[in-house]
Amino acid sequence: MAPALLILLGATVILRADSLSDKKSLLLPPTNFTIKVTGLSQVLLRWESNPDQEPVNIELGYHVRINVPQEEDYETRNTESKRVTVLHKGFSASVQTVPWNGQPLPPSRWVSAELKAPPGSPGTSVVNLTCTTNTTVNNHTPLWPYQVSLHCSWLAGKDAPEDTQYFLYYRYGSWTEECQEYRRDTLNRNTACWFPKTFISSRGSEALAVHANGSSKHAPIKPFDQLFALHAIDRINPPVNVTAEIEGTCLSIQWEKPVSAFPIHCFEYEVKIYNTRKNYFQTEKLMTNAFISIIDDISKYSVQVRATVSSVCRQMGFWSEWSQPIYVGSDDQKPSTEWFLIVLMAAICFILLIFSFICKTGHLWTRLFPPVPAPKSSIQDFFVIVSSEKTVSTETEIEVISYVEDPGFETLEDSVF
Ligand SMILES: *[C@@H]1O[C@H](CO)[C@@H](O)[C@H](O)[C@H]1NC(C)=O
Ligand SMILES: *[C@@H]1O[C@H](CO)[C@@H](O)[C@H](O)[C@H]1NC(C)=O
Ligand SMILES: *[C@@H]1O[C@H](CO)[C@@H](O)[C@H](O)[C@H]1NC(C)=O
Ligand SMILES: *[C@@H]1O[C@H](CO)[C@@H](O)[C@H](O)[C@H]1NC(C)=O
Ligand SMILES: *[C@@H]1O[C@H](CO)[C@@H](O)[C@H](O)[C@H]1NC(C)=O
Repeated sequence: MAPALLILLGATVILRADSLSDKKSLLLPPTNFTIKVTGLSQVLLRWESNPDQEPVNIELGYHVRINVPQEEDYETRNTESKRVTVLHKGFSASVQTVPWNGQPLPPSRWVSAELKAPPGSPGTSVVNLTCTTNTTVNNHTPLWPYQVSLHCSWLAGKDAPEDTQYFLYYRYGSWTEECQEYRRDTLNRNTACWFPKTFISSRGSEALAVHANGSSKHAPIKPFDQLFALHAIDRINPPVNVTAEIEGTCLSIQWEKPVSAFPIHCFEYEVKIYNTRKNYFQTEKLMTNAFISIIDDISKYSVQVRATVSSVCRQMGFWSEWSQPIYVGSDDQKPSTEWFLIVLMAAICFILLIFSFICKTGHLWTRLFPPVPAPKSSIQDFFVIVSSEKTVSTETEIEVISYVEDPGFETLEDSVF
C-alpha cells in the first residue's frame, strides 16, 4: 500500500512540474525554425537560439521531435539537423530548448514548422515501386573500377488517367539523376527504368532515395518517394572462374570472388555438388575460395557456387544466382568398359589386318627374291618370270585392297555429305 501511494505522489508531483514548466521555465524556445528541402527525400531543419534567453549557468541543447512522416525524437547541441526521409506525405517537426547533461531544469516551449504534402489526386501515384542494383566492371575509368547500375519498376496508380506520364529520379549522396531509359506499358506510360551507370557506391551505407512524379492533362499526379537500403536491393554477381577436378577420391573445387567492389574477405559462399548417378545434392557454406570433398562414388558431378556479402562487411542481403554448372567425373562405369572392349576389338582387327598385309608382302618378298637360283638357269629367264609374276601379284594385290576399301570410302562419303 505504502509504495503505491509513494508512486502516486511522485506522479502527481511530476505532472504538476510539467504543467507549470510552460510558464515558469527559465528556458526560451528557439527562434526562426525552418524546414528546407535540400534534395530528394532530404530536408534541413534549422533554428537559432533565442536572443532573449537570459544567461543560465548550464549548457543548453535542443530536443527535436519529428511528427510526420514518422515519429522520431532526438537531442542535439547543433542548431541544424539534416534528415533523410520520404516527403510525399509532407513533413512536420518541433524543437524545444533543453538543459544539456540532464540538469533538473524544465525545457522550453515547443516551436513547430511543417512542409505541406505535395498536391495530387489520390490514387494517381506509382505503386509497387521496386529497385535493384547490380555491379559491372568499368573499363573506362581505372580509378573507379566498378560501376553500379540501377533498375526500377512500378505500376501506374489505379486512378491515374490514361495519359499519365511518370518520371523517375534517384539521389545517392549529393548526386541526383533523372532516368534516361524508360520502358513503357501498353498505354505508353513509363513503368520501368534502367540506369546503366550511377553514382551509387555499392559499399556505401547511405540509403538510396528514389522519387517518382508524373503529369497528366486531366489530374495532378501525386509524387511518390521511397528509400532503399543498398544491402536489401543489391544483386550480387555469382562467383567466377569455377573449376573442379577429381583426383582419386578427392573432388577439389575452386573459384574466384564475384565482380564486386567488396574485397575478397567480404564474401561467403555456398557450394552445391550434385551426384547425377545417385540424384543427390550436397551443399556447403564456406568463407574460403576452395573446397575439397571426398567422393567414394564413380559418377558424373555437377558443381555450382553462389556468393553473398557476409555480415563482416555489411548487413546480410541476397545470395547471388548460382554459377553455371560445371561437370566432372564420368557418367557411369558400364558404358565405359563397353567402349573399352569395342576399342580393343577394333585395335585387334587392325593389328590382324596389318599383320596379314605384312605376311602377304612377306610372301611377295620371298617370291620376289627367291632363294638364289641354281647357276645353270639363265638370267634372262629369271627376269621374265619375275616380271610376269610381279604384275600378276600386284594386280591381285590392288584388287584385294580396292575391294576392302571401296565400301569404306562410300560409307565415309555418305556420312560426310
Ligand atoms: C529570423 O530571420 C529573420 C529573417 O530571416 C531575421 O530578420 C531575424 O533577425 C531572425 N531572427 C533571429 C532571432 O535571429
Ligand atoms: C502490388 O502491391 C500490392 C501490395 O503491396 C500487392 O497486393 C499486389 O499484388 C502488387 N501487385 C503486383 C502486380 O505485383
Ligand atoms: C545486371 O547487369 C547486366 C549487365 O551486365 C544486366 O543485363 C542485368 O539486367 C542486370 N541485372 C539487374 C537486376 O539489374
Ligand atoms: C519531378 O521531380 C523533379 C525532381 O524533384 C522535378 O525537377 C520535376 O519538375 C518534377 N516533375 C513534375 C512533373 O512534377
Ligand atoms: C578468370 O580466368 C581468366 C583466365 O584464366 C582470367 O583472365 C580472369 O582474370 C579470371 N577472372 C578473375 C575475376 O580473376
